[in-house]
Amino acid sequence: MIYVNIEELVKSLSVEEKIRLLVGAGLSVKVPGAAGETRAVEHLNIPSIVLSDGPAGVRIHPVRFGDKNTYYATAFPNEVTLSSTWSIELVERIGRAIGVEAREYGIDVMLAPGLNMYRVPLCGRNFEYFSEDPLLAGRLAAAYVRGVQSAGVGATLKHFVVNEQETNRRMVDVIVSERALREIYLRAFEIAIEESEPWAVMGAYNKLYGRYCVQNEWLLTKVLRGDLKFNGLIMTDWFAGDNPVEQIKAGIDLIMPGDDNTVQILLDAYRRGELDEKTIEVRAKKILELILKTPRYKGYTPSNKPDLDSHAKIAYEAAIEGVVLLKNNDVLPIPEGSRVAVFGKGSYLTVKGGLGSGDTHPRYTISIADGLREKSFRIYEELDKIYRDTVMVKWLGFDAISWFIHARENAMKEGNTYQLSWILTDFIESVAVYLTTLFISEDFLSDEVIEKAARESDVALITISRISSEGFDRKPVKGDFYLRDDEYKLIDKVSKIFHRYGKKVIVILNIPGPIEIISWRDLVDAILVIWLPGQEAGRVVADLLMGRATPSGKLPLTWPKELYEIPAMRIFPGEPRDNPQKAVYEEGIYIGYRYYDTFAIEPAYEFGYGLSYTSFEYRELLVAREKDAIIVKLRVRNSGGYPGKEVVQVYVRAPRGRIEKPFQELKGFHKTKLLNPGEEEEITINIPLKYLASFNGTKWIIEQGVYEIRVGASSRDIRLTTMITIESDICFNTNWSTTHC
Ligand code: BGC
Repeated sequence: MIYVNIEELVKSLSVEEKIRLLVGAGLSVKVPGAAGETRAVEHLNIPSIVLSDGPAGVRIHPVRFGDKNTYYATAFPNEVTLSSTWSIELVERIGRAIGVEAREYGIDVMLAPGLNMYRVPLCGRNFEYFSEDPLLAGRLAAAYVRGVQSAGVGATLKHFVVNEQETNRRMVDVIVSERALREIYLRAFEIAIEESEPWAVMGAYNKLYGRYCVQNEWLLTKVLRGDLKFNGLIMTDWFAGDNPVEQIKAGIDLIMPGDDNTVQILLDAYRRGELDEKTIEVRAKKILELILKTPRYKGYTPSNKPDLDSHAKIAYEAAIEGVVLLKNNDVLPIPEGSRVAVFGKGSYLTVKGGLGSGDTHPRYTISIADGLREKSFRIYEELDKIYRDTVMVKWLGFDAISWFIHARENAMKEGNTYQLSWILTDFIESVAVYLTTLFISEDFLSDEVIEKAARESDVALITISRISSEGFDRKPVKGDFYLRDDEYKLIDKVSKIFHRYGKKVIVILNIPGPIEIISWRDLVDAILVIWLPGQEAGRVVADLLMGRATPSGKLPLTWPKELYEIPAMRIFPGEPRDNPQKAVYEEGIYIGYRYYDTFAIEPAYEFGYGLSYTSFEYRELLVAREKDAIIVKLRVRNSGGYPGKEVVQVYVRAPRGRIEKPFQELKGFHKTKLLNPGEEEEITINIPLKYLASFNGTKWIIEQGVYEIRVGASSRDIRLTTMITIESDICFNTNWSTTHC
């Protein structure tokens, strides 16, 4: 039976049944490996629905006990790669593919996308988030959500809010000015909610202003429901907070993952009169509203056979567009079939994505070396053999990696698919990759081997990789933010020797976020950042190297010269530093480029930066004011020799007024279609007027004056500017109703 009248349905439930609905049923039984399930109401045919991570694709166990089928999911590029595409269209397609895959594996709600801000490069989960800028993050998250939900599956924005660090994430108290909270951290959620109507929002682990986010009524009810007008379901992060009764009172609808004890606590509170029936009913209604939209409720039978091949193609396309070319000293693209000497562990053990709940279990990950070979580059085999046969094995003391891979394959071939053995081998494999990336020396090749490689190949390629995970922040040490000495030596040695033979050196950065680059970037000829590109990694690198595709990614963040030039690093991860209880966002609104531009600091690479094999010409900028928006029009022409795409960025510089403003802020962007040499595109970008407003502590104000509209290829490569005048102040309340100034 399909219910249409939720009111009636809610009324037909007893209080006990309603309370049970508010608490999840624990880890999923229906879909092994999925993160959670809700509770069923059997006699009313309300099924329990399944929730699964995560941002880079469906995270479920690929094998099941006593089942010969496999349940591999596509490892899509991580969000940091997606955001570097700056492509709404592409991110929406990725979302759609994830949604379809989820639906076909029996998932009703995806626990993605992640939408916290890049406040410092060291946050261990930045790879699951989009940007340091709320407009870019919010718009791309909206695209992701629209994509997932177009497949009939729900999406969840997480983690609401100010969850910008993993150190002590379960208890750290974030103190941030209300202005920064609203203009930066909430703004991303606000845009995503407005532009995509997500089915769910997940409350963060940390506290805000002394209260757990999941127990903070002001945050959940006044701000999220009221100001941000969120209408969907609010759930907790897994095991977040410490008081389920307070959670329900504050505005949480669904406590996850949930257990019977929590149900009992809520029942007792109800019986004592601490929790009123009205609140319980309002929350239960939200859960039912969501359940009634799900594939499971609608009787959809999952095929368990998503089209992994077509999803692999989408994963490949997105990863291609997410690669950022930082440097190109006349070397790229290189001719097809070139002889390439491939250095660095990461070339052979390429990191597809981050670990933790954002991990995925794909059928394969194409390493960089394999990708180059598959795409007909001539790999310098001697080196390849050294890395494969000797290094990967002996470094770990035994043939760890291939042992685990074989163990898993055998288990599956025999059809006796031990879920447990799979989990173990997968886990140990991840740990092995992790340890290899962290601790195994890169400086083991003799000068003779490198010399020979330089003589017998056309170009050197060195991969530097890093991996990061939920639960830990990255470290400001060698081997993480900084190169280890052996990594530096490898780059230095290979560059010197190859340059002596007149051959060039390309570095691939396979990383979750920035690393220190100033000390070594001048040694090499080209640097490509592939981030965490998902399962198609090697193919992506090969096609970009040979120019089958032109890099079009731009940085969704400012790449620092030095870690400690970032204001938030002064006290990160909080106070006291060794066991932070409190994280004060002292920098206020000055995060990322807002800081660098306002205080005229030179970064290594600015926000929005990224090179191409071709060039673009900007012209005919026209700006007009409509009632609620500023309309920006211009033409962009491919003026170079390769087909390519350009990311056009619109920054606005506010006049000097009563409220202090950053030097400029991103207010719009557009990625062109693929433009052939000589081809041009007419672009229109709408800037909602309200995004010009600043929060003065009680209300939003757009101050009168002359605003500069700055259009460019990065935040510091502004090509066209013009002015627009706002005649008089415009003010809004926190919920955007207009008010007197
Ligand atoms: C993470 C969430 C995730 C949940 C379920 C938590 O530890 O913070 O992002 O969705 O686990 O796996």
